[in-house]
Amino acid sequence: MASLNLSTLPTTSLSSRTRSPFASKTTTHRFKVSCNAAGNEDHLPKLNMQNVDRRNLLLGLGGLYGAANLTTIGSAGAYPITAPDDISDCVAATQGVQDPDNAVRGVACCPPPSTSVPKPYVLPEFTELRIRPAAHRLTPEYLAKYKAAIAAMKALPDTHPHSWKQQGKIHCAYCNGAYSQVMNGHPELKLQVHNSSLFFPFHRWYLYFYERILGKLINDPTFGLPYWNWDNPTGMMLPAMFEEPGPNGNPRTNPLFDAFRDVSHLPPAIIDLNNRDDNAGANCVDQISANLSTVYSQMVTNSPTTSDFFGTNPDPKVTPKVGSIESGAHTAVHIWVGNPRMPNREDLGNFYSAGYDPAFYVHHSNVDRMWQIWRDINPYTNLDPTDDDWLNASYVFYDENEELVRVYNRDCVDIHKMGYDFENSRLPWLQSRPTPRVKASNIAAKSIGVVKKVEEIKFPLKLDQTVKVLVKRPERKRNAHSKKKATEMLFLNGIKYNGEVFFKLDVLVDDVDDGVETTPASSEFAGTFSMVPHNHGGDKMLMTSGAAFGITQLLEDLEAEDDEYVLVTLVPRAGAEDASVSEIKIQLVPTA
Ligand code: C2O
Repeated sequence: MASLNLSTLPTTSLSSRTRSPFASKTTTHRFKVSCNAAGNEDHLPKLNMQNVDRRNLLLGLGGLYGAANLTTIGSAGAYPITAPDDISDCVAATQGVQDPDNAVRGVACCPPPSTSVPKPYVLPEFTELRIRPAAHRLTPEYLAKYKAAIAAMKALPDTHPHSWKQQGKIHCAYCNGAYSQVMNGHPELKLQVHNSSLFFPFHRWYLYFYERILGKLINDPTFGLPYWNWDNPTGMMLPAMFEEPGPNGNPRTNPLFDAFRDVSHLPPAIIDLNNRDDNAGANCVDQISANLSTVYSQMVTNSPTTSDFFGTNPDPKVTPKVGSIESGAHTAVHIWVGNPRMPNREDLGNFYSAGYDPAFYVHHSNVDRMWQIWRDINPYTNLDPTDDDWLNASYVFYDENEELVRVYNRDCVDIHKMGYDFENSRLPWLQSRPTPRVKASNIAAKSIGVVKKVEEIKFPLKLDQTVKVLVKRPERKRNAHSKKKATEMLFLNGIKYNGEVFFKLDVLVDDVDDGVETTPASSEFAGTFSMVPHNHGGDKMLMTSGAAFGITQLLEDLEAEDDEYVLVTLVPRAGAEDASVSEIKIQLVPTA
């Protein structure tokens, strides 16, 4: 895409030229500071969600919606995922791993044994909320506290449930097949918290205990885990604290240091929230703009309903669908930080090793924050799941008192009851709706006869190269009333891909082939499906998932609302040799 100049960029991230509720009163060279030293300093005013009239947010996103309804996810078939009572019912994740001896983090992920069954966890009383600060804005005192806590964790013996190693293993255990679904009567099925609606609640609980353990280690019950503010230009690089030198001027003496990171992505490299392999030369302005639009698409356009944001419940009878943030910015940060020279892209680039890098928890603190913000964006439509399978899903952790406890999704929907909140930070992405490259191109109609229609295609459709397909819309020329009642969504169902490698697929809509790159800053870029590898090894492990992309706004912006068909372009970007999709369709999905 042509390089942008400042005046065409979403304004709120940049300067005070506009008078949006989020605009800052800073000078116009603010943006340069963000580009050269994102995260090193931040004089930007904070957005205080409490002080923002919610109607502003709602209107900004296309008007008020009707009253809330109950929302369900997937099928409710009394199938809540339940971690085993007996944690010795855990096997090393070595099964099928090609070279377990050389997996640097080891694949024995089971927790320390316990003689008791997990007690149902009761949220404790507290007197002061733990406020999670933005990582790039920590005061020296706070940073010292955080480092002391991590150092204390690293000093514990490996066998201690609070040790750095045991905390890291938790992630491996819950996603690399250490537990089975024995409590559901399916010992043959593995327990997995990714690629589903368990993603947000599992990680919320995981961080909850991690934070309380850190607080206990430094005797400060008000300690809040910092969040990596990657959705704000000032936070769009690995927080400097992770790489700064420790006591002897050596980064290795910094407790936050991790040896397994991509050295070409250390500060001040600006993060790419879309993992475009080919954008090494992208200038900082374009990169920040693309990042903001990426977050906008995942938080707004592609998550109008509960299941689009959360994904579906794991259920053997239901084809899984992944949530927009999980398969988008969340994966991108993992892959961006992990070291591509390591066999499994350790640490962050693979689930088995991710929990060993302190940056993992700070990344997930922001993912957790995204859940909270998504609810605040539109409290009428953006609702947590309410079906029993989701509410009753449960996991087992050692709490900060080394007590084995069982926790439920239903008890983690209110962060204030859990005793924490986030320091405010501006949300410039809320006004970074992508803009069209080519308006009224009529490209779908022009492609008839050249590109196949969905009904002429034999599924499953291979995704080992770029494919174009015409998809018929259920309704044309939708009026305001119809748009208010339902969102038009493009579904890719039954996406099969090799779970051992990083897989990424970009989805473009009505994209005109004119030799110009379509980035996430363009309306034509409907979204991305990408997954962190799982390291199961052995035979290629084909995973199944699905994704949905909102196209109501996109078609408005492209002036294509009268079209009968849309032209869908699927661009495999990584790990797609064995990938395929079994269904492509457009449907109107009722808003709550
Ligand atoms: Cu459990 Cu970011 O993954």
